Amino acid sequence: MPAPAPTLAARMRRSLGYRGPWRTLRVGLALARYRLRYGLAAPRPHAFDLEFGTDTVSLTRATEHRGDAALGNGHEPIDTVDFANLMAGLNTDLRPFTFVDFGSGQGRALLLASNYPFERIVGVEHGLELHQSALANLARYRNPRQRCRAIECVWADAASWEIPAVPVVFYFCEPFREPMLRRMAARVRASLRAAPRPAYVLYVGELRRVWEEAGGFERVASSYWTCIFRWRPPA
Ligand SMILES: C[S@@+](CC[C@H](N)C(=O)[O-])C[C@H]1O[C@@H](n2cnc3c(N)ncnc32)[C@H](O)[C@@H]1O
Repeated sequence: MPAPAPTLAARMRRSLGYRGPWRTLRVGLALARYRLRYGLAAPRPHAFDLEFGTDTVSLTRATEHRGDAALGNGHEPIDTVDFANLMAGLNTDLRPFTFVDFGSGQGRALLLASNYPFERIVGVEHGLELHQSALANLARYRNPRQRCRAIECVWADAASWEIPAVPVVFYFCEPFREPMLRRMAARVRASLRAAPRPAYVLYVGELRRVWEEAGGFERVASSYWTCIFRWRPPA
C-alpha cells in the first residue's frame, strides 16, 4: 500500500529543517505564484524546482537511448533531504574527488552535489531527452551555495563510458537492474584495481548486496535505503 501523502504541517517541518525559514518562505511564495498561474488542479511541482526554476521531475523515460535500455530503470530523482543525509555520512575531504552519477536523469543529484566542494562532477545518462533536460537545468541553476561549477553531462551508456583514473565518489541511485549493476560493480572494481586510488560508492536502492559481494567495498554507513562503501582493495 503506498504511503499516505505527508500533511502540509509535516512538509513545512521538513522544509524548515532542510532549508531554514527564508528559503522555505521563498518556496512557499513560488508555489503561490505557480498556483495563481496554473490553478489548483495542476500537478504540484517539487520544492527543489520551485526554488531554482528547474525541472528535475517531469520525465520518467526517454524515447531514444544509448546502449540497452532494458537493463536500466526509469527516471525518478533523488529526494533532496535523502541526498543531504547520504552526503552527511561521507566523512572525508571531498576536494580531490570527482562525483560521478551513473544514470543522472534530469540532473537533480548533479545540482545537489554541486553544493559540495568536489573537484569535478560528471553525470552519465543514456536517455537523450533526460540528458538534454539535465543540460537545460544546469544552465538555469543559480545557487549561492554552489561550490563546484565544473559539471559535465554526458549522453552515454554507463556500460561503455570510460571511468576516469582519479579519486571518485561513485553515485548510483537505483539506475540499473541487477545484472547491469553487477556488471558496473565489476567495472568499477577493475578500474580501481588497475589504477589504485581513493574511492567511495554511494548506493541508493535495494541491491546493496551487489556491492557487498563484489569484494573490496567496505560498508562505512547505511540507512534503510542507502549505503556508503569505501574502496578497500583486497591485500
Ligand atoms: C532513478 S533515476 C536517478 C536519477 C538521478 N541520478 C538522481 O539521483 O536524481 C535512474 C536513471 O538512470 C538512467 N539509466 C538507466 N540505465 C542507464 C545506463 N545504462 N546508462 C546511463 N544511464 C542509465 C535512467 O535513464 C534514469 O534517468
